[in-house]
Amino acid sequence: MKAYFGRRYLVSASHRLHAEALTAEENRAAYGKCNNAHGHGHNYFVEVLVGGAVDPATGMVVDLVALDRTVDERILQRFDHTNLNLDTLFADRVPTTENFCQAIFDLLRDALPAGELEYVRVEETENNFFECWARG
Ligand code: NI
Repeated sequence: MKAYFGRRYLVSASHRLHAEALTAEENRAAYGKCNNAHGHGHNYFVEVLVGGAVDPATGMVVDLVALDRTVDERILQRFDHTNLNLDTLFADRVPTTENFCQAIFDLLRDALPAGELEYVRVEETENNFFECWARG
């Protein structure tokens, strides 16, 4: 039987929603004030859920220290207090929180033990959240 462990991290970052393929007018229509040329910031709460068998020796489903290290190295050091638009991952993708959530999921899935990552959930504001699941 599988058990699950969730952990929450804070990433403060700025972005501007602007699609090169759209005209200025279409960008304003699609993104509203989020298309403002100066960008704006968010305190993103990033939730990571991992699953697996409970280790009979430790009673735990995951090595918390290793998970924190992976998230720190792959996510926090890369994105915290940055402008997401300047990251190479968003060179040809608009840094919407849908795409940010997908990017975090892909980076963590590649760095964690196979099959461990269940989902990544990103809260952009108190009213908006986005999720990417391993099971599609
Ligand atoms: Ni925003």
